[in-house]
Amino acid sequence: MEQYYSIRGGVPLEGTVTVSGAKNAALPIIPAAILCQDTCVLENLPDIHDVEALRAILEKLGVKITRTRGGCYTFDTKNINTLDVTFSEVSSMRASYYLLGSMLATYGEVELALPGGCVIGARPIDQHIKAMRALGANVYLDESRNVLRASAAKLKGAEIFFDLVSVGATINAMLAAVKAEGVTVLQNVAKEPHVVDVANFLNMMGASVRGAGTDVIRIQGRKKLHGCAYSVIPDQIETGTYMIAAAATRGDVVINNVIHTHMEAITAKLVESGATVEEGDDGMEYYLRVTMRDRPRPVKIKTAVYPGFPTDLQQPMMAYLATANGISTIEETIFENRFNHAKELRKLGASIHVAGNRIAKVRGVEQLRGAKLSASDLRAGAALIVAGLSATGETRVSGVEYIDRGYENLEQKLQALGAVISRKTV
Ligand code: EPZ
Repeated sequence: MEQYYSIRGGVPLEGTVTVSGAKNAALPIIPAAILCQDTCVLENLPDIHDVEALRAILEKLGVKITRTRGGCYTFDTKNINTLDVTFSEVSSMRASYYLLGSMLATYGEVELALPGGCVIGARPIDQHIKAMRALGANVYLDESRNVLRASAAKLKGAEIFFDLVSVGATINAMLAAVKAEGVTVLQNVAKEPHVVDVANFLNMMGASVRGAGTDVIRIQGRKKLHGCAYSVIPDQIETGTYMIAAAATRGDVVINNVIHTHMEAITAKLVESGATVEEGDDGMEYYLRVTMRDRPRPVKIKTAVYPGFPTDLQQPMMAYLATANGISTIEETIFENRFNHAKELRKLGASIHVAGNRIAKVRGVEQLRGAKLSASDLRAGAALIVAGLSATGETRVSGVEYIDRGYENLEQKLQALGAVISRKTV
């Protein structure tokens, strides 16, 4: 039975929405709990498919997980009973590669099924492997089984200069190094908010991680870590998605539970396009209010590592700029194939020219018109939803399984903002 979102667009979004916990922080923090072989309480975990799938993987390894309330779970990692992490669920999600660093640091060995690439790019893990080998691990890639075997009698601190800035490799190296002998220095690292959140969680477990969020991270290995309670930061990409949806529908939306500094690149581009973005604090939590009355002005977008414009918001931004009053350009510098949504947006009447998979020219049109669309990946799905919300008539977006991976209660949150959206089954 296939599901799709049915959207009747043209309704300005108005009201208040609250951001959930960050997917890309939760996905490394959950396997990082293995490092303490104790009990951790993790709060504000988003109720999304990827987080649910990762919990199921840890339970298969012997982790006892109990839900206390909402997004709060207790993880008892004292009795993991296997080092074989090659069952099918593992290769179905990318973030399972964080089990490499956490299991290697805790047990000195792991056999891990590797994720494939995906539509947005090949997404190799050579930098992850480079980091593990630099710390003294033997890493063997069994290409025939798409399985990686890693072992180390004892991981030893090292100086690691990454060939390129990688969120995953930066985090995986941190996970492996926190219990290594001596000091590890990581350079040319990712500075995303979720990298900092993982470092904060590790330090709550008694690790010594300094410099996360800067170009150099220094880690003093510790013999033992202990359990802790930790709440995951709000999701930067979910926040940006609602900011863009508010502007794309010419709405007026207050987005609660945000971290203003994480949103600076998106705020700047929305303001440049003519939106108003107000930062506020109601005494309990920080919010952003996004209002837009007219057609957006065209802007230039170039994706970059943090604090640049995030690649994960390039796709929803294209949907917004499809009705701008002029020609916008979008340059995707992180992934080699992240414009799959352009052909779907053209079905709504958008005028988009993609040159060589890295640069898209978006000639804004007055109005998009509803059509049947198909999402090819998580953020492409978000882009099609944003476009459908601004188009006249009905838009159907299939591929909801991609969208469920990263957005908690999407239709409920949008309905509360006045969107006419529902999930249907054929
Ligand atoms: C994380 O993926 C996010 N996923 C992605 O979000 C996000 O788009 C990406 O970071 C960039 O911000 C999670 O955090 C679970 P990278 P990751 O390693 O870590 C290349 C979403 O929509 N590379 O920073 O896999 C790679 O191919 C998802 O939430 C290597 O060449 O991204 C890419 O071109 C999509 N070798 C670039 O680096 C490596 O060993 C950046 O990738 C590692 C990466």
